[in-house]
Amino acid sequence: MSFELVRGMNDILPEDVGWWRLIERAIRDVARRYNYREIRFPIVEHTDLFTRGIGEGTEVVTKQMFTFPDQKGRSLTLRPEGTASAARAYLSHGLQANAPFQKWFYLGPMFRYEKPQKGRHRQFHQYGVEALGSLNPSLDVEVIAFAWTLMDGLGLGGLSLRLNSIGCSNDRDSYHEVLRAHFADAIDSMCSDCRRRYDENPLRILDCKEAGCRPHIETAPGAAEHLCDECVEHFDDVKSLLDHLGLAYEIDPHLVRGLDYYTRTVFELISADLGAQDSLLGGGRYDGLVESVGGPPTPGVGFAGGTDRLVLVLQERDAPIQPDRLDLFLASIGDEGRRLVFELAEQLRRAGLSVELDHRARGLRKQLTLANQLEARYLVVIGEDESVSGAGKLKEMDSGEELDVELTAATLVAAVKQGGGTK
Ligand code: HAM
Repeated sequence: MSFELVRGMNDILPEDVGWWRLIERAIRDVARRYNYREIRFPIVEHTDLFTRGIGEGTEVVTKQMFTFPDQKGRSLTLRPEGTASAARAYLSHGLQANAPFQKWFYLGPMFRYEKPQKGRHRQFHQYGVEALGSLNPSLDVEVIAFAWTLMDGLGLGGLSLRLNSIGCSNDRDSYHEVLRAHFADAIDSMCSDCRRRYDENPLRILDCKEAGCRPHIETAPGAAEHLCDECVEHFDDVKSLLDHLGLAYEIDPHLVRGLDYYTRTVFELISADLGAQDSLLGGGRYDGLVESVGGPPTPGVGFAGGTDRLVLVLQERDAPIQPDRLDLFLASIGDEGRRLVFELAEQLRRAGLSVELDHRARGLRKQLTLANQLEARYLVVIGEDESVSGAGKLKEMDSGEELDVELTAATLVAAVKQGGGTK
C-alpha cells in the first residue's frame, strides 16, 4: 500500500526551501525595522474562537474549516488564519491590563478546505502582522507601509494598493439597509449564497465572485459613502498619511474582504508581477474583534499574505536560488579509508565546516560524481597510502589545484578557511 499526499497539502522540497527562507528572512528584517516582535500561536484552537471571531456567515467558517472533536468531544479547528489567535493570545496573557499596545508578526501554516489550484492550497502558509491597542490612523498606515516595504524589498514590481473604509459597527446597520435597497430588485436572480447573505449580512454580497452576481455588485453604493463623522475623519487621515509617505492607493468602493471582523480601513496589495492570481496580501482594522472573543473593546489592525503565492511569483521571475556550497567532500578507498573519513568528517563538522561523505560505500568514481553534484569547494581522497602516512591532497574543485596537507582537522579547517571555503 502506498500513500498519496492529502489533497491540497504539499511537501516543500529542499530545492524550494531557499525561496521560503529568502521570504522569511525579508519579513524578519522588515519586522525588525518596524519593531514588530515575533509571536507563535498554536495550530489548533477552540472552534468557537473562529466562528465568533471571523463570523458565522463567512465562507471561511461555513465551508472551509478543518474541524474535529477531541477525545473529550470538544470541538477543535486547525487555524484558518492568525488574527483571531492574536486576539485570543492578547487576552490569554492579560495584555489588555499589563501591556495593552502590542506589535506582532507571525509565520506559519494555515488550513482552509478550498478547491486546490495554483497558489491556493488547503494547507498554505501566511506571514502576518497584527498591531493591537491603538485607534490611531498612523498605525493603519504603518501596517500598510510594512507590507509595501516588504514587497518592495523583494523587488516586486508594479505595486498598487486597493483601499476602502467599511466604517464602524454603528455604520454597518445603515449601510446594510442601503445595500438591501440596492439589491432588492435583483436578489431573486442572484446566487443562493447571495440570497442568504441578503438577509444575514448584505455586506458579504460584495465579495461574491459569481459572474451572474457581479454586474449587480459593480453598481452598488460604496461603504465609504455611508460613514459616520468619526470614520470619515479616520479614513481621511489614513489617506493623507499615505500621501505623505508617497504610497499610492486606489479607492475600491467594493473592497470588503472575506472576514467579518473588519471595521474602517481595509486594503489589499496587488502586484503587476502576480498576473491573474488572487491577491498577494490583505488586511485591515478590526476594532471589534477582541471584544467579540470575550475581551474589552480593543482596537487592532494588521495584514497577512500567502507565502506560497509569493514563492510562485519569485520563482516565475528569478533564476533559481543557489544553495550554499558544501565546503569539503571526503572520498575514501577501502575500509580503513572509510573509517578515517568518517572520523575526520565528524571532527571537521564540529569545527564548523560543512562536510559530506558517501554513506553508500560506493567506488571512487561514484563518490567523485557525488562531490561534483554537491558542488563541493574542496575534495580529499583518503585511501590506504593516506591512512598510513596521515598526509594527502586537498583539491580545490573549481581550479583543479592541489595542495599537500596533513590529514588533521586543524590543518584542513585552516586550509579551507584560507581558501575562502567558510566565512
Ligand atoms: P485573507 O485575505 O483571508 O486574510 O488571507 C490573507 C492572504 O493569505 C491572502 O491574500 C492570500 O495571499 C493567502 N491565502 C488565503 N487563502 C489561501 C489559500 N487557500 N492558499 C494560499 N494562500 C492563501 C486573512 O487571513 C486575515 N487574517 C489577514 C489580516 C491580518 N487581517 C488583519 N490582520
